[in-house]
Amino acid sequence: MSHRILFVCLGNICRSPAAEGVFRARAPHHVTDSAGTMGWHAGNPPYGPMQAAAKVRGIYLGDLRARQFTAADFDRFDLILGMDANNIADIEDLRPAGSDTPVRLLTDFAPEAGADHVPDPYYTRDFDGALDLIEAAVEGLAAHLDS
Ligand code: 4NP
Repeated sequence: MSHRILFVCLGNICRSPAAEGVFRARAPHHVTDSAGTMGWHAGNPPYGPMQAAAKVRGIYLGDLRARQFTAADFDRFDLILGMDANNIADIEDLRPAGSDTPVRLLTDFAPEAGADHVPDPYYTRDFDGALDLIEAAVEGLAAHLDS
């Protein structure tokens, strides 16, 4: 069965495009997109260091372009996944009345990793650490969706 999954972070140039790229490679039968709660980088490709770190793992992000999350995304997707609690709060601020689309933390799908968010590598510079966490959670997410 095909699901429509949206990955959301702050800038949509590091964590959420990485999650989309890892997920679409792992589970190509689902419909995916990513977005940022802020629109600063709209139209831009993923951040170069994140593209490079993903490429080492065989994950191509170069075709992705940033856009801002909107209230219409609650209708376009079956599941919305944020990278940290701030993302979740900013997403929930736009929830239309009557929408019951689930909004979850991506890390909820990697309980074994013991992380309650994906730290922002734009600030930490730990692109590999973010990708390790994203890969673990995507594996859990894909298993959950296909079960
Ligand atoms: P992301 O990281 O939310 O994982 O895409 C960020 C990228 C850029 C900025 C903040 C976070 N920024 O402030 O430009």
